[in-house]
Amino acid sequence: MSSVRLGSSAMLKAVQRLGLGVLIITVLSLVYFILMTQSVAKLVQPRHLQKTTPVDVVELARHFNGTWQQNDKAIAVLREELHNCCSTQEDFILTQKNIRIGMNIHYGIQKGKTFKVTSALSRMLPKTSPFSGRRFSRCSVVGNGAILSHSGCGQEIDKADYVFRCNLPPIGGKYAEDTGIRTNFTTANPISQISWIYKGLRSQQGRDKFMTDIKKYPGLLWVSAFQVKAATGISQQALRFVTQRRIRNPALVFGNPQHFINTMNYWKAHGLSNRLSTGMYMSSMALSVCDQVHLFGFWPFDKDPEDQPLAYHYYDKGKADKVHDMPQEFLKLLEWHQEGVVNVHVHKCQAGR
Ligand code: CDP
Repeated sequence: MSSVRLGSSAMLKAVQRLGLGVLIITVLSLVYFILMTQSVAKLVQPRHLQKTTPVDVVELARHFNGTWQQNDKAIAVLREELHNCCSTQEDFILTQKNIRIGMNIHYGIQKGKTFKVTSALSRMLPKTSPFSGRRFSRCSVVGNGAILSHSGCGQEIDKADYVFRCNLPPIGGKYAEDTGIRTNFTTANPISQISWIYKGLRSQQGRDKFMTDIKKYPGLLWVSAFQVKAATGISQQALRFVTQRRIRNPALVFGNPQHFINTMNYWKAHGLSNRLSTGMYMSSMALSVCDQVHLFGFWPFDKDPEDQPLAYHYYDKGKADKVHDMPQEFLKLLEWHQEGVVNVHVHKCQAGR
């Protein structure tokens, strides 16, 4: 009888001790989380605060020192959430499977505007998604930031099984050492690129140049045909052109605006209030199809990590599109980096040191 009583009181004490332990761990985790959030928020202020509080780039860059630790559990959780919201592997690209002739496609950016799917469009789309059931072990997503200049990151970028690039950037030649030579997936802007640079493919000269240039980007050439109405005509013209010429590499594909809307809504609920930049959208996409994601060329600041003036692009001065909030996006990238979800490279790579 007494031994039973002794056993239960010892158990009670153990439970109390365990409870106290859990309480202490919870309080410490909460304090750590609050301190982390505040210190990170201080580094990258939202744009409206930046006018008065410049970003401490030197301090910010320090957060990327040391060895990056991949967190498979956090990656799996995020991938599952992204799958539930957006079904990237099936719906990232417009296919005959995710649209029907006669249905109305909602534009990704122009709210309230729709496009009625024609049989001519449907015929030119791939039957199924090129990403269906696919998974790559290592991916590089390459932003166009001048942080890549003199980085020596070309080899590191090209090490990936799959390389994403944004907006038909210059690759190879004098940029090879810093930005690599490979690409599997490249985005093209129908208005600022296909329409303006290739003169809307109206002249023979424009069409020839387009054909020569796109061959530098093997794999998928992703065109955002349904973000705004003004992009649709020229995008369809480009797709007709490559279809007639039987150009299969690169394969020209259209982004699915509903996937963009779903992804935007997901990230809006997770702290990104502005329209996603191309690079951020591609990074989110990569999380769904890659086991390990490495980001390069993301640094939307006018000073480098040594506080020296920095251009916007690695190939020209350029400037950020005001509709995005890239410093806010960068805060999210920093969060991902610290959680072990993606590896953001802002320092020089080994070869460039
Ligand atoms: O058209 P957009 O401004 O979105 O893109 P871009 O200038 O062609 O650069 C491609 C992507 O790289 C952007 O969407 C950003 O996500 C990223 N980027 C960056 O993080 N820092 C820079 N200085 C430049 C671009």
